[in-house]
Amino acid sequence: MRIILLGPPGAGKGTQSKFIQEMYHIPQISTGDILRENVKKNTDLGKKAREYMDKGELVPDKVIIELVKTRLQQDDCLKGYILDGFPRTLAQAEGLEKALGNENVDRVLFVNVSDSVIIDRLTLRRIDRETGAIYHLKNNPPPEGVRVIHRDDDKEETVKNRLRVYREQTEPLVKFYKDKNILYEINGEKSVQEINSLIKDILNRGKET
Ligand code: AP5
Repeated sequence: MRIILLGPPGAGKGTQSKFIQEMYHIPQISTGDILRENVKKNTDLGKKAREYMDKGELVPDKVIIELVKTRLQQDDCLKGYILDGFPRTLAQAEGLEKALGNENVDRVLFVNVSDSVIIDRLTLRRIDRETGAIYHLKNNPPPEGVRVIHRDDDKEETVKNRLRVYREQTEPLVKFYKDKNILYEINGEKSVQEINSLIKDILNRGKET
């Protein structure tokens, strides 16, 4: 099963990816996580990506498409994967089609959330620095003793720019995948558990849902 998780920043793509990964035993490929790992290790890619990420801008398409193409060639992708945060522009979506050749994406899960909810979620999001587990200071606080980080790009001003970039460059993908009849819209303001079960239904029942 090849799945794309599409949605604004803070929609819950990472949270739901973890759940799908456990259910289907397929890898989560998060371009954001791969970039952050490179920033942490100060690689050439990380140095370049950081300039964009800190401002809430997108890293250039060419860099991202190459990165994903290389990742999809690894053996753990043979049975499928979850693309979390990719594609994010029409050029990336077309790059993915080219890379897939005769294969298709099976489902695009579009998790939709309003701007005010996003700002609350991201400014209060905290991430376990060891395991990457995702928390929220109000809705799902980290257990005592867990050391968490607040992402640099989760400051309110940067979040607002990420939202603007999302509307301009990523939202057109909703129509792109709707036209292909593989897009499923999910209300991302429901609880994590409710969204889990909606996703489960969509993935198990298929197109007729
Ligand atoms: P990336 O890391 O992909 O960030 P994003 O898409 O902005 O998404 P987030 O990780 O912020 O949010 P999420 O939807 O995963 O939400 P989460 O589950 O954590 O990208 C970062 C940057 O990298 C980009 O700005 C860009 O610079 C670069 N980049 C990455 N990919 C790129 C690409 N393809 N092309 C170019 N550049 C790229 O949840 C958020 C919070 O809400 C958490 O606190 C969580 O606990 C809480 N929460 C989740 N679900 C619920 C719920 N249902 N109810 C209540 N709270 C919830």
